[in-house]
Amino acid sequence: MSDKATLNVEGKSYEFDVFTGSENEKCIDTQNLRAETGYITMDPGFGNTGSCYSSITYVDGAKGILRYRGYPIEELAEKAIFIETAYLVLYGELPNKEQLKSFSDRLKEHAPLHTNLEHHFSGFPKSAPPMAILSAMLNLISCFHPEVLEVPTTGEQFDRTASLLLSKVRTIAAFAYRMAAGKPINHPNPNLTYCGNFLHMMFSDPYQEYKVTPIIDKALNLFLILHADHEQNCSTSTVRVVGSSRANLFSSVAAGVCALWGPLHGGANAAVITMLEDIKKSGRPLTYYLEKAKDKDDPFRLMGFGHRVYKNFDPRSLILKKRVHDVLEALKVQDSLLDIALELEDATLSDDYFVSRNLYPNVDFYSGILLRAIGIPLNMYTVMFAIGRMPGWIANWKEMHDHNLRISRPRQIYTGKTTRHFIPMAER
Ligand code: CMC
Repeated sequence: MSDKATLNVEGKSYEFDVFTGSENEKCIDTQNLRAETGYITMDPGFGNTGSCYSSITYVDGAKGILRYRGYPIEELAEKAIFIETAYLVLYGELPNKEQLKSFSDRLKEHAPLHTNLEHHFSGFPKSAPPMAILSAMLNLISCFHPEVLEVPTTGEQFDRTASLLLSKVRTIAAFAYRMAAGKPINHPNPNLTYCGNFLHMMFSDPYQEYKVTPIIDKALNLFLILHADHEQNCSTSTVRVVGSSRANLFSSVAAGVCALWGPLHGGANAAVITMLEDIKKSGRPLTYYLEKAKDKDDPFRLMGFGHRVYKNFDPRSLILKKRVHDVLEALKVQDSLLDIALELEDATLSDDYFVSRNLYPNVDFYSGILLRAIGIPLNMYTVMFAIGRMPGWIANWKEMHDHNLRISRPRQIYTGKTTRHFIPMAER
């Protein structure tokens, strides 16, 4: 097989290196394209553009494969807990017993927020969306830990910064919820697990301590594991782009939170529930919603359907669909939204519009039903996604620095006016 790609343009021929990844994915390395030919490539939305070589996560969209550091998502979902998955994503290997213990101890150590940082929560209006609070507070942490502004990507200082971020994101998320709900904050309890501690900070009350059950602890671990990384998605690319200017890790992930917030990305998990509730309330047949989604003059889309990379099925959605049933059954809960979701999925499977465009349920379609079962309020769904995605953001930021990537700076083709001259005000 040739290891060169040839481009013929304006009667000249140019050769470019071809690179094959460890899973046989191929790319044409066009880094010198503009310098050699004067041309750039045009790929709005970056559907065909590779921005990096990465060894963190592998996705095969045609076969529905997702692996973190080589481990299939199905195995991690079945056998791992979130913090060992986070360790795997960050450091490349599953932790042994001692490594997991010291990682977990670090997370416990960093769970509390600086008291002055806590005061900032009361400055937000009661209606503030928790995603806005999360992004603002993540950026703010660096003011209280100036040492994190210059983060090396290896060694003790990196380990400390990464665990500080992984731990504090959970505390900030819970405090944001408590403040918005007008409830007193619950400080972290070092005797609890990562997930147990989060649920305690969310739901304990002065008169009643929240008791996490193994079913709920497992369900939350599952949710976070499934969101831990997903290669160069919109928010991770944002983290890399921001970090490429050598902005610190905290500002970079704060920007990642903003990118995740949108309904086409992480915001879809809440939008799915809103859509299912609307279907339930309206009593309209599903065909009404299918037709609306197909109508190009209507901005409505079936939330939780479609994916840029998965064109067959999203393996996370399959895992969630099954586990949602198990969790609801174990909790002896019935959720009519699950029935509507199942019917909606069935309806799309026999509709040519969805089949021909490979629009299948994505990770966000069933995840909200799991979060409802755990008792997480709707305005926190995308925040939960952010907590889960934190290991992936940090790992990608680190890898980008380790590879010493250049500042991200795409090109454009200008289509505006050519030179014209200033017209004095009186003549306009
Ligand atoms: N409902 C109706 N039509 C859709 C949908 C949908 N959910 N998704 C895509 N299409 C149509 C789209 O209109 C287009 O049709 P046509 O070829 O006739 O113009 C075709 O399918 C291709 O869509 P696209 O917008 O070019 O695809 P994309 O790769 O740019 O977008 C997506 C991917 C996930 C943003 C999109 O499928 C979507 O908006 N889905 C709904 C929002 C959602 O569930 N987002 C979560 C994504 S997965 C997890 C995450 O990233 O957070």
